[in-house]
Amino acid sequence: MSETSPHGTVAYDIVDNVAWVKFNRPEKRNCMSPTLNREMMDLLDALEFRDDVGVLVLSGEGTSWSAGMDLKEYFRENEAKGLGATRGAQREAYGWWRRLRWYQKPTIAMVNGWCFGGGYGPLFGCDLAFAADEATFGLSEINWGILPGGGATKVAVELLPFRKAMYHAMMGENIDGKTAAEWGLVNESIPLAGLKDRVAAVAAVLLQKNPVALKATKDAVRRVGEMTYDNAEDYLIRAQEAANSFDSEGRKEGIKQFIDDKTYKPGLGAYDKNRKAD
Ligand code: COA
Repeated sequence: MSETSPHGTVAYDIVDNVAWVKFNRPEKRNCMSPTLNREMMDLLDALEFRDDVGVLVLSGEGTSWSAGMDLKEYFRENEAKGLGATRGAQREAYGWWRRLRWYQKPTIAMVNGWCFGGGYGPLFGCDLAFAADEATFGLSEINWGILPGGGATKVAVELLPFRKAMYHAMMGENIDGKTAAEWGLVNESIPLAGLKDRVAAVAAVLLQKNPVALKATKDAVRRVGEMTYDNAEDYLIRAQEAANSFDSEGRKEGIKQFIDDKTYKPGLGAYDKNRKAD
């Protein structure tokens, strides 16, 4: 039985150190209302540093991952209240997507159905993404008369080659999960029936890794894209040295288990992070 947020717009279960978080407005195809955005931020806050959460998976209840922003509650009703309300709603939405991009724990988008427009924000916010073959992706903004905002244009340009990004944004045509994987919007596409098992298997692998190293790695992958080679080289030295102060022994144990104990090979899997140095 899932736990739900006070207004029920998000739901979650924690099973074997994985937080399975869901957009929970299936009757509205999980479109993102201001209430949902607020409740999602609260939930991310509550889960981020829990010891029983090692990986967070974001999926959707029902037939949808997320049908993007709520055209009624997020756009029309806020516009009627004035610029302050619009800016406030934008801050709340963009805020939790930003939180996801820099989340302490590894995050996985499990795209089970519709994924439109504003949904590209949390899609990109997650470190990894797995889609059902049956999922549908689209920048539908052009179909109702706006540009792909809320970062969606940026996400398309970050993840897709220029011609594909332009076509995707201008045409308002949808693609399925397989095409999303071919284009690089998601890591893989799997038949819906096997999606959760595949994501659970990926999460189980991540749970074996050193968590300090994972956080340093995911941040590094996002940061270095904007740096010159020399700046990246320097950043990576500093980032590893900073990580060492949070976890002074992990990498030494990793070396020891390979070189001295010969209990594993780093080329073939992770060291046992639960075994401590003698
Ligand atoms: N904003 C507000 N309401 C939405 C919504 C959105 N983005 N997406 C779905 N809904 C609502 C519908 O208005 C409908 O409400 P109702 O039951 O009160 O009439 C309900 O959710 C179910 O939607 P419906 O269109 O009947 O479902 P469907 O399964 O036939 O179609 C979609 C699913 C996703 C194709 C369709 O709902 C859609 O095109 N949604 C908008 C997608 C979009 O452009 N998003 C980008 C926003 S930036």
